Amino acid sequence: MSNQNITLTDTAKLFISDKEYDLPITIGTENEVGIDISQLRNKSGAITFDSGYGNTGSCQSAITFIDGEKGILQYRGYPIEELAGKSNFIETSFLLIFGHLPNKKELERFQFQLTHHSLIHEDMKKFFEGFPPKAHPMGILSAMVSSLSAFYPEDGYNVDVELNIVRLLAKLKTIAAFSFKKSVGQPYIYPRNDLGYASDMIHMMFAVPSEAYEVPKVVEEALDLLLILHADHEQNCSTSTVRMVGSSEANLFASISAGICALWGPLHGGANQEVIQMLEKIKNDGGDYKKYIGLAKNKESKFKLMGFGHRVYKNFDPRAKILKASADRVLKELGVTDPLLDIAKNLEEIALKDDFFIERKLYPNVDFYSGIIYRAMGIPTNMFTVMFALGRLPGWIAQWKEMRETPGARIYRPRQIYIGDTKRPYIPLEKR
Ligand code: SDX
Repeated sequence: MSNQNITLTDTAKLFISDKEYDLPITIGTENEVGIDISQLRNKSGAITFDSGYGNTGSCQSAITFIDGEKGILQYRGYPIEELAGKSNFIETSFLLIFGHLPNKKELERFQFQLTHHSLIHEDMKKFFEGFPPKAHPMGILSAMVSSLSAFYPEDGYNVDVELNIVRLLAKLKTIAAFSFKKSVGQPYIYPRNDLGYASDMIHMMFAVPSEAYEVPKVVEEALDLLLILHADHEQNCSTSTVRMVGSSEANLFASISAGICALWGPLHGGANQEVIQMLEKIKNDGGDYKKYIGLAKNKESKFKLMGFGHRVYKNFDPRAKILKASADRVLKELGVTDPLLDIAKNLEEIALKDDFFIERKLYPNVDFYSGIIYRAMGIPTNMFTVMFALGRLPGWIAQWKEMRETPGARIYRPRQIYIGDTKRPYIPLEKR
């Protein structure tokens, strides 16, 4: 939240019983105000406590700006609406990672590198054979990404980091597509150098050796849009995980593999799969969406309206707005009618007028409509979070790179407030 009235000469005053402490202020380029507590414990002996880090800034970053009250999302200062309408995923990835929109020469070189690093080592194919048929593709993805460190060892930050960034960006879609083919028992389809990123991903998933497969333009464009919208989102759970692991100077592949695991959770990236499962449950329950609105409002039910709510956005998620419009367009162009879309729209319409959701500022988030589009594209539900990971990869990489290149970057090591037993003597077994 920005505050134009505060300046860097101001300090925050903290009173603990009869002692007063002055804490410096930090102000961002969008006038966000932070109280710098890096010396708090040295000065006062106290630490702050902020369960879930809802009020705690872990870093200063120049990559993504979100204003949750105004529904603003900008990558390196460019509004998401502009990038969604005018850019593409490769250009947006370059922007996030290197900090500026590439010129023609930079973009051509970046695209060439991604095209020519998209194969994975043939030995990596053996890892797929070891997974059971029903293995969740997110578990495969994180394992395969971590194994890249065996093929491309990283000794020291400056050795091959940019090449490893390109390798990971280029190979993740191949790994994702191969994990899908493994799950459906079909032969792997290799990347093609004549296809763009999104088109090649769809081709690797849905082509078969026995016949030519033309990627529908509407599907390619819809995936490219989805990837742009998921590309970064400042210090969310998985990005903070990537930074946390990277802060120990673990290599890029290990850091991203950890981020994939964090994204997998149903409260985070796994929500897009949960949304579809929730909508299908409502459909199979006679489409009674009002019943599920009631369950979401009843704490005892433990039911959550998946795809609703957000830690930062408190009016609307700009990505959800774009995806809602895109869902209508993609389904129409594909000639798909999906009753789940109608249920989703009915849920949104009711929830936005209901005091329970209004008071808690619960609105559709990025995951609420994305699954409808993935479904219309023929992507199976268990691959939805993998598609989220594909989109988020440039953001994770950009944040990891920024953290590693920050002068004086320290290992993440939060404190705690201990609430366990105080000191007590050991009790011998015979006396317990
Ligand atoms: C993503 O951080 C990011 O930027 C994430 C992300 C990204 O791009 O990286 O945007 C992607 O993860 C989007 C979120 C996807 N998750 C879901 O859709 C799961 C459903 N949503 C909730 O679990 C929840 O809203 C969270 C996890 C998204 C946010 O959790 P918070 O900020 O901790 O909020 P909270 O749980 O404290 O909720 C506040 C209140 C509570 O009620 P009270 O105790 O005040 O009475 O709102 C209620 C919650 O019970 N609530 C919901 C709800 N979400 C919150 N009630 C019903 N349905 C919901 N979905």
